[in-house]
Amino acid sequence: MDTIIAKIQNKDSDEAIYMKAAQILKNGGLVAFPTETVYGLGANALDEMASAKIYAAKRRPSDNPLIVHIADVADLDKLAVDIDDRVKKTVKAFWPGPLTMILKKNQCIPDSITGGLDTVAIRMPSHFVAANLIKKSKIFIAAPSANISGRPSPTRAKHVIEDMNGIIDMIIEHDEVDIGVESTIIDLSVDKPVILRPGYITKAQLEQVLGEVFVDPAIQGNIADGVIPKAPGMKYKHYAPKAKVIIVDGKDNDVIDVINCLTKDKQLEGLKVGIMTCSENMKKYKADVVFDIGSRYDEASNARTLFEALRLFDEKKVDYVYSESFPTNNVGAAVMNRLIKAAGHTILHV
Ligand code: TXA
Ligand code: MG
Repeated sequence: MDTIIAKIQNKDSDEAIYMKAAQILKNGGLVAFPTETVYGLGANALDEMASAKIYAAKRRPSDNPLIVHIADVADLDKLAVDIDDRVKKTVKAFWPGPLTMILKKNQCIPDSITGGLDTVAIRMPSHFVAANLIKKSKIFIAAPSANISGRPSPTRAKHVIEDMNGIIDMIIEHDEVDIGVESTIIDLSVDKPVILRPGYITKAQLEQVLGEVFVDPAIQGNIADGVIPKAPGMKYKHYAPKAKVIIVDGKDNDVIDVINCLTKDKQLEGLKVGIMTCSENMKKYKADVVFDIGSRYDEASNARTLFEALRLFDEKKVDYVYSESFPTNNVGAAVMNRLIKAAGHTILHV
């Protein structure tokens, strides 16, 4: 398939891009587009044939449900039932923005996009391209991240092109995304609100609006221990580069010594090594690829760079990645959640 690749850059040409994309979506096709979190791969959420194409393009397991993206709060009623005060307060505080709510689904939602669950994930993105596309196509857009399943989520158009060129109808290009990790998911279909996936909106922020908020125990725990996550997608070893990823955690100097030592050992075996570090320690390492994901005092920059780093290690065909661990006060909690998954929970405490 020839994929149309079009860049949003000025008002004159943008309108034609949105019109083309809207037409493709209405005809049951697939369009990738930027959001504030990561690039999404969109299809008409209420068209089962269209959303089936998402699963095929991503090679995504069919039990992993999709998020439905809307551009107008008034549409919430059409997609979900039991919309209570908690939902209204959450919408007011965080939409449009990087927060997905799990709610009891309305009958119009096909089972195929919820993986057979009686709930639906809904998000109203704040990125102007995503919002315009939803408004102009006059549909609800089901959109997972626009990567092949198991690869790091795309934070730049070139990542989408790497994974999806020739497979989908259209890719809308724009700048690097602002946030870089996927939305926070909160389950409000149950009595006590539960975070199913950490993201830019933190537990503390949610608690200011909702009171006590719980965290799905499977998020931090080892799935091998038998704890099953409530968001089906969280059980997969997502975000995995092809290399074996090992997190080394401990006091700074110890971490640096151990990573340099392990790197030397692997290189003696003829293997290629990548290191992921904060900017402060960048110069203290020697390896085939050293990638700095920003200052340790800048969690937002860590989030924006993480997936790009994981993709670069793939591109450079490294065999091993040693990574420092990063602070988790804000969006850093999401960074460490994704990194721990990429590492298949391999953490070396030194
Ligand atoms: O930031 C984001 O949320 C991005 C952009 C494109 O909006 N989208 C995204 O979608 O990350 P995806 O498909 O990569 O991740 C959706 C997650 C999966 O872990 C899935 O299992 C979970 O949401 N999910 C969807 N519907 C659910 C439901 N009804 N109950 C529990 N988890 C659900
Ligand atoms: Mg994803």
